[in-house]
Amino acid sequence: MSPNSTRTCLTVILAAGEGKRMASSVPKVVHPVAGLPMVCHVIDTAVQSGGTHHAIVVGNQAELVANIVKNHTDSATIHEQKERNGTAHAVLAARNAVTNSYDDVVVLYGDVPLIHADTITAARTALQDGADIVVLGFETGDPSGYGRLLVSSGELIAIREHKDATDQEREVTFCNSGIMAFRRECILDVLDGIRNENAQGEFYLTDAVEVGRSKGLSVIAITVPEEDTLGVNDRVQLAEVESIWQRRQRNRLLRAGVTMTAPHTIQFHHDTVIEADVTLEANIVFAAGVTVRSGATIRAFSHLEGATVGEGAIVGPYARLRPGTEMGRGSKAGNFVETKNAKIGAGAKINHLSYIGDAEVGKKANIGAGTITCNYDGFNKHRTNIGDGVFIGSNTSLVAPVNIGKNANTAAGSVISQNVLENDLAIERSQQVNLTGKAQMLRERYAAAKATKS
Ligand code: UD1
Ligand code: MG
Repeated sequence: MSPNSTRTCLTVILAAGEGKRMASSVPKVVHPVAGLPMVCHVIDTAVQSGGTHHAIVVGNQAELVANIVKNHTDSATIHEQKERNGTAHAVLAARNAVTNSYDDVVVLYGDVPLIHADTITAARTALQDGADIVVLGFETGDPSGYGRLLVSSGELIAIREHKDATDQEREVTFCNSGIMAFRRECILDVLDGIRNENAQGEFYLTDAVEVGRSKGLSVIAITVPEEDTLGVNDRVQLAEVESIWQRRQRNRLLRAGVTMTAPHTIQFHHDTVIEADVTLEANIVFAAGVTVRSGATIRAFSHLEGATVGEGAIVGPYARLRPGTEMGRGSKAGNFVETKNAKIGAGAKINHLSYIGDAEVGKKANIGAGTITCNYDGFNKHRTNIGDGVFIGSNTSLVAPVNIGKNANTAAGSVISQNVLENDLAIERSQQVNLTGKAQMLRERYAAAKATKS
């Protein structure tokens, strides 16, 4: 049975570290995975797993991290760890949250963003089943650097940090993920019993195992997939975590009915929404805030941000939809088309080489190749309104602010700076002159000049 419905849970998320190996001016937990700071992924998963409240322990660039957390959620409190004296010391920085009457306390790391809600739930279920302390461990081929879970006759005896371990203990491949769950009533007593007599002179959360056992508590380890517990220490690991996140997202969408012809070439943002029966071709980037409705097709090499693509619409290949774009049902934005802050009506077509910004395009309007909305005068932005059924000739410049009435036409090559009324045709270009035989005359003259030269 899931514990979420009946038991309350505090998660303590450790995010005070510097992350020196990131070689970065911003704290490690702020670096994004799929566009969202790592620590926010951890908070979201904690919420999903039924966490009631979240205590975030900050230290390095505390204010920056605190602001990011506060902007992301209302259900977290910030606790500052003034000095980095170890993971147990960090949890105790949140002492005033831990003293509240939750059933469970789960300790998570701000730099372990791939943890699944199910994994947290498994730890809480073990608490509900009677354990006092639960350690999440994983089996790995490369245990170097991790704390080792020392098990004897099926019982977890201790966690030995790599730096404190004997050669024999270093052979152990069952490792500490760092994630631990405690029955709330016993956590403070255990943490206050932890000493810092070890290689690093730190208060190790991992010592909760031995201290807990000495107090007669039930301490157990459960095994979780290694991938869930991957920590980010440098940018190589950040890139690995990103690619795992992307793979999980692809698989989730494929199973939900999205077709992808080259799934591994598509990049999603954490908030991308793609409905069933959408087709995605190769090499597409989804930046923040994109929704693609059922039946739409995004063709190869397109970049979308802050855009909604309506049912059955077709985008690309090589299209760029910028923030504020709303593509109506069955509309089209073809190759080398850029849109920004633009509402494209149902069935409207912008098939080639155009910029449509700060504009409204009416239903079934046809925007010819090379059409540009001249929306910016160097100081201010202005709007272009194009009515339903309008035909804009190729290479038209629409100098905003300007309105083109319903079913009007503009002739190719025109610079339209005045409003056009419904059903009118606007032509703005000079009269064409044809000179009889002039082309042949020129050809002969040039050929003769070239012959004398050589
Ligand atoms: C820790 C575990 C180790 C485990 C590994 C998993 C301890 C003593 N060791 O080691 O058993 O295998 O994680 O990745 O717990 N932090 C603070 N304040 C501090 C110290 C750390 O907030 O004073 C935060 C860090 O920002 C980080 C997390 O706690 O998010 C873990 O700290 P880190 O120094 O990375 O511990 P490890 O040596 O990796
Ligand atoms: Mg670490």
